Amino acid sequence: MSEKPNPTELSEGIDRALEALREGLDARFASAATEQALRDENAKLLGKKGELTAVLKQMGAVPADARRAIGEKVNAVKQQVEATFAARLAELHRAARQAELTAPPFDLTLPGRAPAPLGHAHPISIVRDEVVAIFRGLGFGVFDGPEVEHEENNFTLLGFPPDHPATDMQDSFWTTSNHLLRTHTSNIQVRAMKALEPPMAFIAPGAVYRRDDDATHSPVFHQIEAFLIDRGVSLAHLKGVLAEFAERLYGPGTPVRLRPSYFPFVEPGAEVDIGCVFCKQADGTRPGCSLCKHTGWIEILGCGLIHPVVLEGCGIDPEQWSGFALGMGIERIAMLRYGIPNIKLMFEGDPRFVAQF
Ligand code: PHE
Repeated sequence: MSEKPNPTELSEGIDRALEALREGLDARFASAATEQALRDENAKLLGKKGELTAVLKQMGAVPADARRAIGEKVNAVKQQVEATFAARLAELHRAARQAELTAPPFDLTLPGRAPAPLGHAHPISIVRDEVVAIFRGLGFGVFDGPEVEHEENNFTLLGFPPDHPATDMQDSFWTTSNHLLRTHTSNIQVRAMKALEPPMAFIAPGAVYRRDDDATHSPVFHQIEAFLIDRGVSLAHLKGVLAEFAERLYGPGTPVRLRPSYFPFVEPGAEVDIGCVFCKQADGTRPGCSLCKHTGWIEILGCGLIHPVVLEGCGIDPEQWSGFALGMGIERIAMLRYGIPNIKLMFEGDPRFVAQF
């Protein structure tokens, strides 16, 4: 049988329970490390099934005369729980705010985000820009013209006879019976001479087309033409410009030599060699390398003094004016510059190739 608790014992029991709650309170809340843990702890005391709530439920059994005193104690403990909770919550908030303020804004030790692959200048563009910059530095302007050209500007006015092999269907891409994809940038000489009065000095970079296709020839490639027309221009001017150009492109002391050659629109005509940039044995003391075919020299361009007939045909009096012209293949210059073994690499568009330069 159950004995009704004696009222004095009951109030004493409640008293002890309240006292125990009060004593443990600070430590319980202090050990809650997060706001959630703190709220959980608070619920264990004040929630529906909370420990203090359980004590309150016993109040009904307390005799009326003791109830008031016990009630005050319960309220005091309840207020203490609320105050301790609020203080600890504020402390947690302060600590979180402080951590936010003192923490680095982001983790500097994280590995960097890989940048999206950027475009990269193609070796043809790099070399073109360099050559153009060198000639601009020597006072040349830039002259542009079309890639689909009339045969007159590409061949006839440059002194190519109608039966010249270059004019053949086998060698050039014809678009109509008298228009073709220009086979060289020398069409720009013609266009500039027709359009302007001398003196003039221009450089003309651009794409050119030939029916050619092997390891060192591509059906489309790029050339840079340079030409200068003034009074009394001689081979010495041409050679001076070439020497300066070779030094600026390939470094000081780069040897240059002219070999007689033939182009219909120049007289005299020459091919220009520079000392092999790979073996540097143009002095002939050692046998050179395979890239210069053991000669110590490498051909880089064609040039000459503009033929008087060409000047005249383009409306310039050859008695008063003379000039020189030179033309080089940009791919060839780039291949020599970077040791690129096959011209095809430059047209495949592989980003791994381009990224090397
Ligand atoms: N046009 C010539 C070629 O394509 C190069 C050249 C230009 C030669 C100017 C002499 C003068 O081969």
